[in-house]
Amino acid sequence: MNIIIRPERESDYRCVEELTRKAFWNLHVPGCDEHYLAHVMRSHPDFCSDLDFVAEYEGRVIGNIMYTKAHLVNEKGERREILTFGPVSVLPEYQRKGVGSQLIQHTVKLAKAKGFPAIVIFGNPSNYVKHGFRGCKDFRVAVAEDRYPTCMLVLPLQNQPWPDGDWIYQGSEVYNLDKNAAEEFDRNFPPFVKKHMPSQDEFAILCRSVVL
Ligand SMILES: CC(C)(COP(=O)(O)OP(=O)(O)OC[C@H]1O[C@@H](n2cnc3c(N)ncnc32)[C@H](O)[C@@H]1OP(=O)(O)O)[C@@H](O)C(=O)NCCC(=O)NCCS
Repeated sequence: MNIIIRPERESDYRCVEELTRKAFWNLHVPGCDEHYLAHVMRSHPDFCSDLDFVAEYEGRVIGNIMYTKAHLVNEKGERREILTFGPVSVLPEYQRKGVGSQLIQHTVKLAKAKGFPAIVIFGNPSNYVKHGFRGCKDFRVAVAEDRYPTCMLVLPLQNQPWPDGDWIYQGSEVYNLDKNAAEEFDRNFPPFVKKHMPSQDEFAILCRSVVL
């Protein structure tokens, strides 16, 4: 597919929120709130506007990726500023055609050039190992002491040895969404049916699983 990857513009906001909603609807839970996350993220201090990109195909925005700043903190209190991405979304009818991969590869290259040491994300490993992400335990990056979620993945960006020590991931607070505000926001969109999907069970298993 011949797509253009370009920075998101203000005029894309609604379209990006709609495609994010379509990509995530009923995927992890009945309904979704990732479109509200995209909406509030843009005005949050942790948001990286210079890594906010859309994929355009034949004049239509069909995909998006957004990044925020996060931190790794070790037992000595040292802090490393890193990146997280998500939501990353592609309109369902354009999925599995390489669009998501292009959005990831384009922005990973930029993040590397900006000198960030790593990207840490929460996602299904099957979507990301092909882009070089590895399980967080390989880098001793945990969410709490000795707790290594299966879905927390790390991509080191620089050709330097990974620093020694036990690191705790501290993500942006923008991900702690106000559920009521998210529901209220969703009323601005055409009604979609909330239903159970097997992908929600897979997500629930993944969210509870850790690497020993
Ligand atoms: C996850 C997501 C962003 C990935 O984007 P995508 O455009 O579907 O991903 P890609 O097409 O780049 O890669 C997916 C698959 O398509 C394959 N593919 C890539 N180019 C292809 C092409 N030209 N033709 C056919 N298949 C292709 C890839 O090999 C990959 O297959 P694999 O998973 O077996 O390795 C997208 O599917 C999405 O929005 N999903 C819903 C929301 C979501 O899950 N977001 C991530 C939360 S963790």
